[in-house]
Amino acid sequence: MSDALTFLVKARPQAMGHYFSFLKEAGKQLDPKTRSLISVITKVHAQTERGLKQYVKRALADGCSPAEVLDALLMAFPALGLAKIVWAVDVMLTMGLPGFTPEAMAAGGQWHDVMAADALAPGEVRRVECDGRGLFVVRDGDVFRVHDSHCPHQGTDIQQLALDGDTLTCPKHQWAFDIRSGACVRNGNTPLRRFESRVAEGRLQALW
Ligand code: FES
Repeated sequence: MSDALTFLVKARPQAMGHYFSFLKEAGKQLDPKTRSLISVITKVHAQTERGLKQYVKRALADGCSPAEVLDALLMAFPALGLAKIVWAVDVMLTMGLPGFTPEAMAAGGQWHDVMAADALAPGEVRRVECDGRGLFVVRDGDVFRVHDSHCPHQGTDIQQLALDGDTLTCPKHQWAFDIRSGACVRNGNTPLRRFESRVAEGRLQALW
């Protein structure tokens, strides 16, 4: 949150409380990815760099791919215009986002077979190897999330032993992550990379 918003929350708690409730209610029917992409567009429209970085990270943590973020900006071209889109791309290039390269976007990725969906019980988290890549697979009810096992800080391949309850702690510099959301909750500021996933004919698949 910006310093100005923090100020307003303290100075006018009631009015700002209504404002945040309004935003929450207004997006109730949208899935998290769509909400995140709309938030990214609003930050580009306002050209707030800190907010843009914050919401791009959230969009990726909510399962958006870098290509989807870029598409959302391009779709909003009539409102944003080219100058703001170029500004946003410049900001995102400074973030060093995995997959935010023309080559990776052109390749589009491919679906990998991870495991049988019912091999993971609801609530369970498991580290698996898939086609040479380490993954943390999370199941909440019927919703699956697939995170890269590599730390977003300096790429340490994090093992199952680093998981304590819902907290995954990288052994190298102790960045800690909420394994359910992928959010970085201690020491760092970048979430685990999340791969798009789907269940097809009983098999969990991930895209990279
Ligand atoms: S490499 Fe994981 S915290 Fe630094």
